[in-house]
Amino acid sequence: MSSIKIIGGNKIKGEVLISGAKNSSMPIIIASILTNEQSILSNVPYVSDVTTLISLLTGAGSHITVIGEGGISKSLKIQTKNLNFDGEISLEASKIRASILLVGPALARNGHVKLLKPGGCNIGERKIDIHISGMKALGAEIIENNNYLELTTNGKKLKGAVIEMPSVSVGATENLLMAASLAEGETILKNVAIEPEIMDLIDFLNKMGAKITQEGERIFKIIGVDSLSGVSHEIIPDRIEGLTYGMLACATGGEVVLKNISRKYLGGGFEEIEKCGIAFEDLPSDYKFGSVRCYLKTGKINPISIETGAFPGFATDLQPQLSVLMLLAGGTSKITENIFENRFQHITYLEKMGANIAFEDSKTIVIHNSSELNGSVVEGTDLRACAALIMVGLIAKGETILRNAESVDRGYYHFVKNIANCGGKISRV
Ligand code: EPZ
Repeated sequence: MSSIKIIGGNKIKGEVLISGAKNSSMPIIIASILTNEQSILSNVPYVSDVTTLISLLTGAGSHITVIGEGGISKSLKIQTKNLNFDGEISLEASKIRASILLVGPALARNGHVKLLKPGGCNIGERKIDIHISGMKALGAEIIENNNYLELTTNGKKLKGAVIEMPSVSVGATENLLMAASLAEGETILKNVAIEPEIMDLIDFLNKMGAKITQEGERIFKIIGVDSLSGVSHEIIPDRIEGLTYGMLACATGGEVVLKNISRKYLGGGFEEIEKCGIAFEDLPSDYKFGSVRCYLKTGKINPISIETGAFPGFATDLQPQLSVLMLLAGGTSKITENIFENRFQHITYLEKMGANIAFEDSKTIVIHNSSELNGSVVEGTDLRACAALIMVGLIAKGETILRNAESVDRGYYHFVKNIANCGGKISRV
């Protein structure tokens, strides 16, 4: 178990190179197995979720070459001539939630998949009922195994269908987009998620030869094709990483220039964060995706009240970080977490450090201005909670030790190094 030591009090000032989006890379790397031709993906963040996925797919028969470039993001050459998911997927599959996304492509390609049941994780039960009912609607059937997830198409091709998802799910939308791309006939998906990472996946699939169109705000139509081709694709920048650094720097009274990202890639929360008093100003840039400066407009942080929700709502992946920023706001804020049932685990540690926070109910916290924050020993529970606890360690008095800090590496590459380079007193212990 690795720990991170933070000494509070320094302003974070400098620049950070933002990597490609983790939550775009995962589905797109998996979508590349829908063809036996080679694809080349660039701006792929080399975070541990991605390296775990690379070793998992290599174990299932993919040939993946990692080409190092610019350090934080890499290019991947992927070719999957033979794909063998009939066996048990290594234990690695249960390490990453995104392994559930292998179901659609494996059924489309092999007509069969057998996975160790993808683990839930700290932030919630992470159900997969919408994934499964969607695959059944496309003609797959589940083979009841106690601790495996096994589905088969009984030797037939998946068949297009009209599928209305009971609630908006990023992963289920991605899974069904991939499965329907190679199904026979037309599929209509209703009540879909429309995160930028999903639009990036659709862009990649259509480049491969899929026929996916958006027929309404939350309606996708997919006309199945016989085969898909290998293509090149550059992953969009990581909006969650960018907004995390923006809030973190401003919470310390500093500012940060984010490189290889710009305002238009910051969707899903940055308007609300602007209301807190943080400015996002695009700068001239020699980076493909631009540069943006994040700074406090008036030096003050304003209280806001938000509810997390599916895009274009406020991203749940920014909720822990916002809860820390609101400790410094001049007034009372309110945050309601609608997406995951257990994503407030960082609150007990904020309270331990002196935060004045109350639960209005299990989904809603009320945050009061908390000027007396003192360093403490705290535990990381999930990758965004780790980012939030590092953020509060940077503004608290004295020393904070974040234990179980490895989950920060799942979603942020060089997080400690970037913060240290911008003046933060932070190190791994
Ligand atoms: C994706 O998770 C992201 N992960 C999450 O990012 C993100 O928080 C989440 O979308 C919401 O935006 C990746 O893209 C790899 P969901 P996913 O299916 O697909 C329920 C991070 O920090 N649900 O949209 O698992 C589910 O329990 C991670 O980078 C069902 O009930 O999220 C949850 O309450 C955390 N049945 C809600 O829907 C299902 O079949 C949203 O889940 C599927 C989901």
